[in-house]
Amino acid sequence: MPVVLARGRVENTHTSAFTRPSRSLLGLHANTKQAISIAIQETPAIHVQHLLIWSKSTGCRTGMKGNGMNNSAPLSRRGFLATSATLAATSAVGAEDKLQSRQASGVKVGEVTDSSAIIWTRLTAKATRNADGPKVVGRPGKEDQSPTASEVPKLLGACPGAAGRIRVRYGTKPDLSDAKSTDWIEVTEKTDFSHQFALKELPSDTVIHFAVETTNPDKTPHAPLTGTFRTAPKPDAEAEVTFAVITCQMFADLDHADGFHIYPAIGKLAPRFVAFTGDNVYYDSEQPVARTPALARYHWQRMYSLPRHIELLRQLASYWEKDDHDTLKNDSWAGQKQGELTFEEGLRIFRQQVPMSETIYRTFRWGKFVQVWLTDGRDFRSPNSMKDGPEKTIWGKEQKAWMFRTLKESDALWKVIISPTPIVGPDRPNKRDNHANEGFKHEGDEIRAFLKKNLPHNCFTICGDRHWQYHSVHPETGLNEFSIGAASDQHAGGSPGEKKDYHRFHRVKGGFLSVSVNAKGITFRHHDVNGKVVYEREFKTK
Ligand SMILES: [Fe+2]
Repeated sequence: MPVVLARGRVENTHTSAFTRPSRSLLGLHANTKQAISIAIQETPAIHVQHLLIWSKSTGCRTGMKGNGMNNSAPLSRRGFLATSATLAATSAVGAEDKLQSRQASGVKVGEVTDSSAIIWTRLTAKATRNADGPKVVGRPGKEDQSPTASEVPKLLGACPGAAGRIRVRYGTKPDLSDAKSTDWIEVTEKTDFSHQFALKELPSDTVIHFAVETTNPDKTPHAPLTGTFRTAPKPDAEAEVTFAVITCQMFADLDHADGFHIYPAIGKLAPRFVAFTGDNVYYDSEQPVARTPALARYHWQRMYSLPRHIELLRQLASYWEKDDHDTLKNDSWAGQKQGELTFEEGLRIFRQQVPMSETIYRTFRWGKFVQVWLTDGRDFRSPNSMKDGPEKTIWGKEQKAWMFRTLKESDALWKVIISPTPIVGPDRPNKRDNHANEGFKHEGDEIRAFLKKNLPHNCFTICGDRHWQYHSVHPETGLNEFSIGAASDQHAGGSPGEKKDYHRFHRVKGGFLSVSVNAKGITFRHHDVNGKVVYEREFKTK
């Protein structure tokens, strides 16, 4: 029986069918602005107390210091499950140290197939992000000086790492009574205190429950971080699938202190997965400019330790691409530097911050109706300054051959290429960084011609990078492209304007994209930042 250390006035308790507490109870606390209610659940399988915390003053159910979930809409069941999950990771005021989770940078569940997944996590010195410390936010000025490596752990939003051990327990039952366990893995500064656990032999189209367990180097345990995800259906399964796509998240343009509005909006949509097309953080065009690897890692810490971001990513499969700003700097390529940070180190840091397969370009099948391709646009690209021609490339020879081969081989009804940058556009005439620009026209023409010849009716591109939403149809090849738009309205802009010969839809605002497939067809929907559908286009199965 757990000992209740938390103090607080009982305001409310929450249970759910999913995490029905075997016992609940509550402690009281009078001397606080916050009225906190705590339900403690003892889950025998993982021996952890789940703490449900409700802050009356902030409306925050996460227990994250200083970050209210200012969400007035009633919690959906899914939303509630999300909340419950996070709470397992948090600790109440006065709770014993060992009850705190030490995964302030959250977990990411990636590379999900019908039988496997990779769980990324990182051991941190504290349960939550730094709630105070120097605030370095905004666009860079000429006089800006980046914090030194020793100052980074003290910054607001930093999540300093800690050495210790991590393992993952996972199974199909919510109480993990059928759980398998990975081996304990020691993490150190060498891997930024992170590890990626490959889970194999999972059942298809099944909700997998997991608990990421951590200990100090001396094996003193911390509270685990729990979550869920659902594996992909088998290729012949007639599964209805919805997924969401996000791009371009500038911290300075956050539209809520707890994280972007699009995160809870996507949670309410309950998709099977979310794909990130890159510019997941901005190393160069906002403060602090990442002139060192430590500062580059700090950008990931402060973005993915926000409560709303932790909430979504602990219970939803995610696929990750990178672009220029989360590799090094605007329109960057191999050999370039930003202070001490090299492009090549940027490539390594990206792979360390997200769950990733051996190859950075890959494809995932989600049932009979849909297959997605995730392309990489940085590792293999020619310098933007090179003269355009047959040798100039963004995809590189191997990725391009693999793309063309796997696209032709696929028997999925609908094929969706998720690209960090546009392939159709139109883009601004002064840009030189992507397949929709003059600078890479040769390869852009080659890709568009391939798709017209081989997959004229059932292949689409989704692109990130551009800070406006659009549905374009390429005038010569008929290729349909959907641009997601920036993660917040504050970050939207830059469009060259609506062009009638390309655009079927054009909107200079933030939001996200969702795609739904079923036996009837495939539907692309642009959403505003709160999830409202602002454009919809369906392609029917013939
Ligand atoms: Fe961007």
